[in-house]
Amino acid sequence: MFRLLLLLLLLPAPLMAQENTGREVFDYASRWGMVTFNHREHQQRVGDCLICHHEGVEMGVCSNCHGVIPGLPQHKDVLHKKCINCHWKKSGPTDCAGCHDPERLDESVYGD
Ligand code: HEC
Ligand code: HEC
Ligand code: HEC
Ligand code: HEC
Repeated sequence: MFRLLLLLLLLPAPLMAQENTGREVFDYASRWGMVTFNHREHQQRVGDCLICHHEGVEMGVCSNCHGVIPGLPQHKDVLHKKCINCHWKKSGPTDCAGCHDPERLDESVYGD
């Protein structure tokens, strides 16, 4: 019994159930075309929320800090860095058109 408890205590956090909360999909308009980020599918394939939510899920969206708190790297830059770094390692899309859909330029914020 004691051993079983010890084993449970030693289980790493990512193995414990994490609920897939938050929106299913995020759309980011840009002058390179819309980026559709499937949050739900990424939660399933990545597993550990903290890989992206590095300050904790309870801190909310990245844009609560990036692009708001002076001196922190910009939202666009940290998203690019986070997304593309993992894609290099895990064979996700790394070319512009793998994320940006140039067909959806009309919904973009070109000119802003
Ligand atoms: C892995 C996905 C991904 C790849 C690959 C990618 N982007 Fe992005 N890009 C994004 C996301 C997500 C945003 C939205 C960030 C935001 O809204 O703050 C974005 C935003 C941008 C923006 C800023 C928005 C704007 O209109 O100014 C530019 C410029 C941009 N990307 C250019 C590129 C170029 C050029 C490439 C190829 C060299 C590229 N991106 C590759 C995901 C990607
Ligand atoms: C691959 C990266 C990634 C992973 C993994 C990830 N998220 Fe997110 N999450 C994001 C991004 C990007 C946003 C949008 C933030 C922004 O645009 O500033 C977001 C937003 C959210 C939000 C705010 C959404 C809303 O609807 O307002 C919640 C809550 C959230 N995620 C929970 C989670 C939880 C819980 C997990 C783990 C089960 C998780 N996320 C895993 C990248 C990720
Ligand atoms: C509570 C505030 C906060 C939130 C929310 C937050 N960050 Fe950060 N982020 C920081 C701070 C602070 C740093 C450290 C900046 C430094 O080292 O110069 C940082 C650094 C980063 C870096 C490293 C940048 C670099 O150039 O080395 C990346 C990538 C990043 N954040 C991505 C994200 C993503 C993606 C999200 C949302 C899923 C997010 N952050 C949410 C505060 C936050
Ligand atoms: C920790 C790893 C990781 C991070 C961070 C990550 N991705 Fe991915 N992404 C993947 C993997 C793995 C795939 C799937 C590769 C495959 O199976 O084809 C993928 C696939 C994709 C695809 C192809 C369509 C799909 O959903 O299958 C898009 C678009 C995409 N990611 C966008 C993004 C954007 C935008 C971000 C940043 C906000 C991001 N990803 C962050 C791992 C990641």
